[in-house]
Amino acid sequence: MNRIEIALGQRSYPVLVGASLLHQPSHWLPLIPEVPLVIFTNERVAPLYLDTLVSALGGRQPHTFILPDGEAEKSFDNYQRALEFLAQKGIRRDACLLALGGGVIGDLCGFVAASWMRGIRFIQFPTTLLAQVDASVGGKTAINLPAGKNLVGAFHQPSLVVADVSTLTTLDEREYRAGLAEVLKYGAIRDPELIGLMEQQVTALNRRDAALLIDLVSRSVEHKASVVADDEREAGIRATLNFGHSFGHAIEALTDYTRYLHGEAVAIGMVAASHLSEQRGLCTPGTAARLAKLLQQLDLPVTIPADLSTDHLLERMGLDKKNVTGTRRLILLEALGQAYIDSDSRDEQIRRAIDHTR
Ligand code: NAD
Ligand code: GLY
Repeated sequence: MNRIEIALGQRSYPVLVGASLLHQPSHWLPLIPEVPLVIFTNERVAPLYLDTLVSALGGRQPHTFILPDGEAEKSFDNYQRALEFLAQKGIRRDACLLALGGGVIGDLCGFVAASWMRGIRFIQFPTTLLAQVDASVGGKTAINLPAGKNLVGAFHQPSLVVADVSTLTTLDEREYRAGLAEVLKYGAIRDPELIGLMEQQVTALNRRDAALLIDLVSRSVEHKASVVADDEREAGIRATLNFGHSFGHAIEALTDYTRYLHGEAVAIGMVAASHLSEQRGLCTPGTAARLAKLLQQLDLPVTIPADLSTDHLLERMGLDKKNVTGTRRLILLEALGQAYIDSDSRDEQIRRAIDHTR
Protein backbone atom coordinates (compact mmCIF):
# COMPACT_ATOMS: atom_id res chain seq x y z
CA MET A 1 0.00 0.00 0.00
CA ASN A 2 1.19 3.52 -0.76
CA ARG A 3 0.38 6.55 1.35
CA ILE A 4 0.44 10.02 -0.18
CA GLU A 5 -0.05 13.12 1.96
CA ILE A 6 -2.07 16.06 0.70
CA ALA A 7 -0.27 18.87 2.49
CA LEU A 8 -2.77 21.58 3.31
CA GLY A 9 -1.86 22.57 6.85
CA GLN A 10 -4.71 21.79 9.21
CA ARG A 11 -6.71 20.38 6.31
CA SER A 12 -4.01 17.83 5.35
CA TYR A 13 -5.03 14.24 4.78
CA PRO A 14 -3.63 10.96 3.49
CA VAL A 15 -4.57 9.14 0.30
CA LEU A 16 -4.08 5.38 0.63
CA VAL A 17 -3.60 3.44 -2.60
CA GLY A 18 -3.49 -0.35 -2.68
CA ALA A 19 -5.11 -3.61 -3.71
CA SER A 20 -7.96 -5.17 -1.69
CA LEU A 21 -7.99 -2.24 0.73
CA LEU A 22 -11.74 -2.56 1.33
CA HIS A 23 -11.00 -6.06 2.63
CA GLN A 24 -8.16 -4.85 4.84
CA PRO A 25 -9.67 -2.30 7.21
CA SER A 26 -6.64 -2.48 9.50
CA HIS A 27 -5.00 -0.03 7.06
CA TRP A 28 -7.67 2.66 7.36
CA LEU A 29 -10.23 1.91 10.08
CA PRO A 30 -8.10 3.58 12.77
CA LEU A 31 -8.37 6.78 10.68
CA ILE A 32 -12.18 6.76 10.72
CA PRO A 33 -13.54 8.80 13.61
CA GLU A 34 -15.75 7.07 16.20
CA VAL A 35 -18.83 9.10 15.25
CA PRO A 36 -22.10 8.45 13.41
CA LEU A 37 -21.35 7.48 9.78
CA VAL A 38 -23.44 7.84 6.62
CA ILE A 39 -22.40 6.01 3.44
CA PHE A 40 -23.37 7.62 0.11
CA THR A 41 -23.35 5.26 -2.84
CA ASN A 42 -25.40 4.27 -5.88
CA GLU A 43 -27.40 1.34 -7.23
CA ARG A 44 -24.53 0.14 -9.41
CA VAL A 45 -21.82 0.21 -6.78
CA ALA A 46 -23.90 -0.88 -3.76
CA PRO A 47 -24.36 -4.54 -4.85
CA LEU A 48 -20.63 -4.74 -5.60
CA TYR A 49 -19.00 -3.10 -2.57
CA LEU A 50 -21.45 -1.82 0.04
CA ASP A 51 -21.54 -5.02 2.11
CA THR A 52 -17.76 -5.20 2.04
CA LEU A 53 -17.45 -1.64 3.33
CA VAL A 54 -20.13 -2.11 5.98
CA SER A 55 -18.53 -5.30 7.30
CA ALA A 56 -15.10 -3.67 7.22
CA LEU A 57 -16.53 -1.00 9.52
CA GLY A 58 -17.21 -3.75 12.09
CA GLY A 59 -19.95 -2.94 14.54
CA ARG A 60 -20.26 0.67 13.39
CA GLN A 61 -23.74 0.38 11.77
CA PRO A 62 -23.61 3.27 9.31
CA HIS A 63 -26.68 4.76 7.67
CA THR A 64 -26.75 4.29 3.89
CA PHE A 65 -28.06 6.71 1.30
CA ILE A 66 -28.30 5.01 -2.11
CA LEU A 67 -28.89 7.00 -5.29
CA PRO A 68 -29.74 5.79 -8.78
CA ASP A 69 -26.75 5.59 -11.13
CA GLY A 70 -25.68 8.31 -13.55
CA GLU A 71 -24.39 11.84 -14.00
CA ALA A 72 -27.99 13.14 -14.00
CA GLU A 73 -28.23 12.18 -10.33
CA LYS A 74 -25.68 14.84 -9.33
CA SER A 75 -28.69 17.08 -9.13
CA PHE A 76 -30.15 19.75 -6.90
CA ASP A 77 -33.09 17.41 -6.14
CA ASN A 78 -30.79 14.69 -4.86
CA TYR A 79 -28.76 17.22 -2.93
CA GLN A 80 -31.95 18.30 -1.17
CA ARG A 81 -33.02 14.68 -0.64
CA ALA A 82 -29.66 13.92 0.92
CA LEU A 83 -29.92 16.87 3.31
CA GLU A 84 -33.43 15.79 4.31
CA PHE A 85 -32.12 12.25 4.88
CA LEU A 86 -29.46 13.60 7.24
CA ALA A 87 -32.06 15.67 9.06
CA GLN A 88 -34.38 12.69 9.41
CA LYS A 89 -31.57 10.52 10.80
CA GLY A 90 -30.63 13.21 13.31
CA ILE A 91 -27.13 13.63 11.89
CA ARG A 92 -25.18 16.30 13.78
CA ARG A 93 -21.98 18.23 13.20
CA ASP A 94 -19.82 15.47 14.67
CA ALA A 95 -20.84 12.94 11.97
CA CYS A 96 -18.77 11.79 9.02
CA LEU A 97 -20.00 10.99 5.49
CA LEU A 98 -18.38 8.24 3.42
CA ALA A 99 -18.53 8.46 -0.39
CA LEU A 100 -18.38 4.99 -2.00
CA GLY A 101 -18.41 5.29 -5.79
CA GLY A 102 -17.16 7.30 -8.73
CA GLY A 103 -16.88 11.04 -9.16
CA VAL A 104 -20.64 11.57 -9.20
CA ILE A 105 -21.08 10.15 -5.70
CA GLY A 106 -17.89 11.80 -4.46
CA ASP A 107 -18.86 15.24 -5.76
CA LEU A 108 -22.42 15.09 -4.42
CA CYS A 109 -21.48 13.59 -1.05
CA GLY A 110 -18.66 16.12 -0.76
CA PHE A 111 -20.98 19.03 -1.42
CA VAL A 112 -23.48 17.72 1.13
CA ALA A 113 -20.60 17.43 3.62
CA ALA A 114 -19.45 20.96 2.73
CA SER A 115 -22.83 22.46 3.46
CA TRP A 116 -24.52 20.31 6.12
CA MET A 117 -24.38 22.35 9.31
CA ARG A 118 -21.77 24.57 7.59
CA GLY A 119 -19.43 21.69 6.94
CA ILE A 120 -18.78 18.23 8.36
CA ARG A 121 -16.10 15.62 7.73
CA PHE A 122 -16.19 13.25 4.78
CA ILE A 123 -14.07 10.41 3.51
CA GLN A 124 -13.70 9.23 -0.07
CA PHE A 125 -13.69 5.57 -1.15
CA PRO A 126 -13.32 6.17 -4.92
CA THR A 127 -14.19 3.15 -7.09
CA THR A 128 -13.53 4.46 -10.62
CA LEU A 129 -10.10 5.14 -12.06
CA LEU A 130 -11.12 8.73 -12.77
CA ALA A 131 -12.22 9.25 -9.17
CA GLN A 132 -9.05 7.61 -7.79
CA VAL A 133 -6.65 9.74 -9.83
CA ASP A 134 -8.60 12.98 -9.89
CA ALA A 135 -12.08 13.59 -8.46
CA SER A 136 -11.58 12.19 -4.94
CA VAL A 137 -8.46 14.27 -4.28
CA GLY A 138 -8.25 18.03 -3.97
CA GLY A 139 -11.55 19.05 -2.43
CA LYS A 140 -13.60 20.22 -5.39
CA THR A 141 -17.22 19.25 -4.70
CA ALA A 142 -20.24 20.10 -6.82
CA ILE A 143 -23.66 19.40 -8.20
CA ASN A 144 -25.05 20.13 -11.67
CA LEU A 145 -27.82 22.51 -12.66
CA PRO A 146 -29.86 22.29 -15.87
CA ALA A 147 -27.85 25.37 -16.95
CA GLY A 148 -24.54 23.54 -16.70
CA LYS A 149 -22.36 20.97 -14.97
CA ASN A 150 -20.68 21.67 -11.62
CA LEU A 151 -22.16 25.17 -11.39
CA VAL A 152 -22.86 24.90 -7.67
CA GLY A 153 -20.17 23.65 -5.35
CA ALA A 154 -17.56 24.30 -2.74
CA PHE A 155 -13.96 23.59 -1.92
CA HIS A 156 -14.17 21.10 0.92
CA GLN A 157 -11.34 18.65 1.51
CA PRO A 158 -12.01 15.06 2.57
CA SER A 159 -10.23 13.87 5.71
CA LEU A 160 -9.07 10.61 4.11
CA VAL A 161 -9.12 8.93 0.68
CA VAL A 162 -8.98 5.13 0.38
CA ALA A 163 -8.34 4.11 -3.24
CA ASP A 164 -8.69 0.34 -3.61
CA VAL A 165 -7.50 -0.51 -7.13
CA SER A 166 -9.15 -3.95 -6.88
CA THR A 167 -12.51 -2.21 -7.31
CA LEU A 168 -11.38 -1.21 -10.81
CA THR A 169 -11.74 -4.82 -12.01
CA THR A 170 -15.53 -4.42 -12.25
CA LEU A 171 -15.49 -1.10 -14.15
CA ASP A 172 -16.97 -1.04 -17.64
CA GLU A 173 -14.29 -1.11 -20.31
CA ARG A 174 -15.01 2.43 -21.52
CA GLU A 175 -15.05 3.85 -17.98
CA TYR A 176 -11.68 2.24 -17.30
CA ARG A 177 -10.14 3.63 -20.49
CA ALA A 178 -11.58 7.09 -19.86
CA GLY A 179 -9.74 7.00 -16.52
CA LEU A 180 -6.51 6.06 -18.30
CA ALA A 181 -6.82 9.27 -20.34
CA GLU A 182 -6.66 11.25 -17.07
CA VAL A 183 -3.56 9.32 -15.99
CA LEU A 184 -1.91 10.10 -19.32
CA LYS A 185 -2.82 13.75 -18.74
CA TYR A 186 -0.56 13.90 -15.67
CA GLY A 187 2.24 12.52 -17.83
CA ALA A 188 1.64 15.09 -20.53
CA ILE A 189 1.62 18.08 -18.16
CA ARG A 190 4.16 17.01 -15.53
CA ASP A 191 5.83 13.64 -16.02
CA PRO A 192 7.30 12.49 -19.35
CA GLU A 193 8.56 9.30 -17.63
CA LEU A 194 4.96 8.36 -16.92
CA ILE A 195 4.23 8.57 -20.66
CA GLY A 196 7.25 6.31 -21.32
CA LEU A 197 6.03 3.85 -18.68
CA MET A 198 2.54 3.74 -20.17
CA GLU A 199 3.99 3.21 -23.65
CA GLN A 200 6.01 0.24 -22.38
CA GLN A 201 3.12 -1.23 -20.40
CA VAL A 202 0.21 -1.08 -22.84
CA THR A 203 -0.49 -4.82 -22.49
CA ALA A 204 -0.44 -4.75 -18.69
CA LEU A 205 -2.63 -1.62 -18.75
CA ASN A 206 -5.11 -3.33 -21.01
CA ARG A 207 -5.39 -6.26 -18.58
CA ARG A 208 -5.69 -3.93 -15.55
CA ASP A 209 -2.62 -5.29 -13.82
CA ALA A 210 -3.04 -4.46 -10.11
CA ALA A 211 0.62 -3.68 -9.36
CA LEU A 212 0.82 -1.35 -12.34
CA LEU A 213 -2.43 0.35 -11.35
CA ILE A 214 -1.16 0.95 -7.81
CA ASP A 215 1.89 2.59 -9.36
CA LEU A 216 -0.07 4.72 -11.85
CA VAL A 217 -2.75 5.79 -9.38
CA SER A 218 -0.09 6.67 -6.79
CA ARG A 219 1.95 8.70 -9.28
CA SER A 220 -1.18 10.51 -10.44
CA VAL A 221 -2.21 11.29 -6.87
CA GLU A 222 1.32 12.54 -6.10
CA HIS A 223 1.02 14.98 -9.00
CA LYS A 224 -2.43 16.09 -7.92
CA ALA A 225 -1.20 16.42 -4.31
CA SER A 226 1.63 18.66 -5.36
CA VAL A 227 -0.57 20.88 -7.54
CA VAL A 228 -3.31 21.18 -4.91
CA ALA A 229 -0.80 21.91 -2.14
CA ASP A 230 0.57 24.80 -4.25
CA ASP A 231 -2.76 26.16 -5.43
CA GLU A 232 -5.77 24.77 -3.59
CA ARG A 233 -8.27 27.26 -5.04
CA GLU A 234 -7.05 27.36 -8.62
CA ALA A 235 -5.52 30.81 -8.71
CA GLY A 236 -2.82 29.53 -11.07
CA ILE A 237 -1.08 26.19 -11.54
CA ARG A 238 -4.14 24.05 -10.68
CA ALA A 239 -5.61 25.16 -14.01
CA THR A 240 -2.96 23.02 -15.76
CA LEU A 241 -4.95 19.97 -14.64
CA ASN A 242 -7.43 21.08 -17.27
CA PHE A 243 -5.09 20.18 -20.14
CA GLY A 244 -7.27 18.94 -23.01
CA HIS A 245 -10.42 20.04 -21.17
CA SER A 246 -11.29 23.21 -23.12
CA PHE A 247 -11.48 21.28 -26.38
CA GLY A 248 -12.90 18.27 -24.51
CA HIS A 249 -15.72 20.20 -22.81
CA ALA A 250 -16.72 21.74 -26.15
CA ILE A 251 -16.81 18.29 -27.76
CA GLU A 252 -18.87 16.87 -24.87
CA ALA A 253 -21.31 19.77 -24.91
CA LEU A 254 -21.82 19.70 -28.68
CA THR A 255 -22.56 15.97 -28.54
CA ASP A 256 -25.06 16.47 -25.69
CA TYR A 257 -22.89 14.60 -23.19
CA THR A 258 -24.09 11.33 -24.73
CA ARG A 259 -21.51 10.30 -27.32
CA TYR A 260 -18.31 10.56 -25.29
CA LEU A 261 -17.38 9.93 -21.71
CA HIS A 262 -15.55 12.88 -20.18
CA GLY A 263 -12.14 11.13 -20.37
CA GLU A 264 -12.74 10.21 -24.01
CA ALA A 265 -13.46 13.82 -24.93
CA VAL A 266 -10.39 14.89 -22.95
CA ALA A 267 -8.31 12.38 -24.94
CA ILE A 268 -9.30 14.11 -28.18
CA GLY A 269 -8.82 17.49 -26.49
CA MET A 270 -5.26 16.63 -25.43
CA VAL A 271 -4.36 15.82 -29.04
CA ALA A 272 -5.88 19.11 -30.23
CA ALA A 273 -4.10 21.11 -27.50
CA SER A 274 -0.80 19.40 -28.42
CA HIS A 275 -1.28 20.30 -32.10
CA LEU A 276 -1.88 23.90 -31.06
CA SER A 277 1.24 23.82 -28.86
CA GLU A 278 3.34 22.55 -31.77
CA GLN A 279 1.90 25.11 -34.12
CA ARG A 280 2.64 27.92 -31.66
CA GLY A 281 6.26 26.74 -31.62
CA LEU A 282 5.98 25.84 -27.93
CA CYS A 283 6.77 22.14 -28.09
CA THR A 284 8.63 19.79 -30.41
CA PRO A 285 6.85 18.61 -33.55
CA GLY A 286 5.76 15.00 -33.04
CA THR A 287 4.44 15.53 -29.50
CA ALA A 288 0.80 15.35 -30.61
CA ALA A 289 1.48 12.26 -32.73
CA ARG A 290 3.19 10.53 -29.80
CA LEU A 291 0.29 11.19 -27.43
CA ALA A 292 -2.25 10.21 -30.09
CA LYS A 293 -0.47 6.91 -30.72
CA LEU A 294 -0.51 6.00 -27.02
CA LEU A 295 -4.16 7.04 -26.64
CA GLN A 296 -5.07 4.87 -29.64
CA GLN A 297 -3.22 1.90 -28.16
CA LEU A 298 -5.43 2.40 -25.11
CA ASP A 299 -8.48 2.37 -27.38
CA LEU A 300 -9.30 6.01 -26.79
CA PRO A 301 -10.57 8.37 -29.51
CA VAL A 302 -8.11 10.91 -30.91
CA THR A 303 -9.96 12.74 -33.67
CA ILE A 304 -12.69 15.37 -33.69
CA PRO A 305 -15.71 13.94 -35.48
CA ALA A 306 -16.65 15.48 -38.83
CA ASP A 307 -20.16 16.50 -37.73
CA LEU A 308 -18.81 19.02 -35.18
CA SER A 309 -18.06 22.20 -37.05
CA THR A 310 -14.98 24.22 -36.22
CA ASP A 311 -17.12 27.35 -35.78
CA HIS A 312 -19.34 25.65 -33.23
CA LEU A 313 -16.36 24.28 -31.34
CA LEU A 314 -14.70 27.69 -31.20
CA GLU A 315 -17.90 29.31 -30.06
CA ARG A 316 -18.37 26.70 -27.36
CA MET A 317 -14.77 27.06 -26.17
CA GLY A 318 -15.46 30.73 -25.61
CA LEU A 319 -17.93 29.66 -22.94
CA ASP A 320 -15.43 27.57 -21.03
CA LYS A 321 -15.57 28.12 -17.25
CA LYS A 322 -11.77 28.53 -17.03
CA ASN A 323 -11.75 31.63 -19.19
CA VAL A 324 -11.05 34.88 -17.50
CA THR A 325 -13.45 37.43 -19.00
CA GLY A 326 -12.37 38.57 -22.44
CA THR A 327 -9.58 36.02 -23.00
CA ARG A 328 -9.52 32.46 -24.21
CA ARG A 329 -7.40 30.63 -21.67
CA LEU A 330 -5.91 27.32 -22.76
CA ILE A 331 -3.50 24.84 -21.27
CA LEU A 332 -0.72 24.10 -23.74
CA LEU A 333 2.59 22.20 -23.60
CA GLU A 334 6.01 23.82 -23.64
CA ALA A 335 7.39 20.30 -23.80
CA LEU A 336 6.07 16.86 -23.05
CA GLY A 337 5.72 16.96 -19.26
CA GLN A 338 5.62 20.75 -19.03
CA ALA A 339 2.30 22.57 -19.13
CA TYR A 340 1.83 26.24 -19.86
CA ILE A 341 -1.17 28.50 -19.20
CA ASP A 342 -1.78 30.42 -22.42
CA SER A 343 -3.99 33.39 -23.21
CA ASP A 344 -2.42 34.34 -26.53
CA SER A 345 -3.73 31.78 -28.99
CA ARG A 346 -5.58 33.43 -31.83
CA ASP A 347 -8.81 32.03 -33.23
CA GLU A 348 -7.21 31.08 -36.52
CA GLN A 349 -4.52 29.11 -34.69
CA ILE A 350 -7.13 27.24 -32.65
CA ARG A 351 -9.06 26.68 -35.86
CA ARG A 352 -5.98 25.12 -37.49
CA ALA A 353 -5.36 22.89 -34.48
CA ILE A 354 -8.97 21.66 -34.65
CA ASP A 355 -8.57 20.92 -38.37
CA HIS A 356 -5.33 19.08 -37.61
CA THR A 357 -7.25 16.85 -35.18
CA ARG A 358 -9.82 15.68 -37.78
P1 NAD B 1 -19.36 8.03 -12.30
O1 NAD B 1 -19.29 8.34 -10.87
O2 NAD B 1 -20.64 8.23 -13.01
O3 NAD B 1 -18.91 6.51 -12.50
C1 NAD B 1 -18.91 5.95 -13.80
C2 NAD B 1 -19.78 4.68 -13.85
O4 NAD B 1 -19.09 3.61 -13.20
C3 NAD B 1 -21.10 4.82 -13.14
O5 NAD B 1 -22.06 4.07 -13.84
C4 NAD B 1 -20.82 4.18 -11.77
O6 NAD B 1 -21.97 3.73 -11.11
C5 NAD B 1 -19.93 3.06 -12.18
N1 NAD B 1 -19.03 2.53 -11.17
C6 NAD B 1 -18.38 3.20 -10.21
N2 NAD B 1 -17.50 2.39 -9.60
C7 NAD B 1 -17.62 1.18 -10.18
C8 NAD B 1 -16.97 -0.07 -10.00
N3 NAD B 1 -15.95 -0.20 -9.16
N4 NAD B 1 -17.36 -1.11 -10.76
C9 NAD B 1 -18.35 -0.96 -11.69
N5 NAD B 1 -18.97 0.18 -11.93
C10 NAD B 1 -18.61 1.24 -11.18
O7 NAD B 1 -18.25 8.82 -13.14
P2 NAD B 1 -16.72 9.13 -12.87
O8 NAD B 1 -16.10 9.08 -14.19
O9 NAD B 1 -16.16 8.35 -11.74
O10 NAD B 1 -16.79 10.65 -12.37
C11 NAD B 1 -17.34 11.66 -13.20
C12 NAD B 1 -17.82 12.78 -12.30
O11 NAD B 1 -16.72 13.26 -11.56
C13 NAD B 1 -18.39 13.96 -13.05
O12 NAD B 1 -19.57 14.38 -12.41
C14 NAD B 1 -17.32 15.02 -12.94
O13 NAD B 1 -17.84 16.33 -12.94
C15 NAD B 1 -16.70 14.69 -11.61
N6 NAD B 1 -15.30 15.09 -11.46
C16 NAD B 1 -14.98 15.76 -10.35
C17 NAD B 1 -13.68 16.17 -10.15
C18 NAD B 1 -13.30 16.87 -8.88
O14 NAD B 1 -12.17 17.35 -8.78
N7 NAD B 1 -14.18 16.93 -7.92
C19 NAD B 1 -12.69 15.87 -11.09
C20 NAD B 1 -13.06 15.17 -12.23
C21 NAD B 1 -14.38 14.79 -12.41
N1 GLY C 1 -10.09 18.07 -11.83
C1 GLY C 1 -9.39 19.29 -11.82
C2 GLY C 1 -9.09 19.78 -10.43
O1 GLY C 1 -9.31 19.10 -9.46
O2 GLY C 1 -8.67 20.87 -10.29
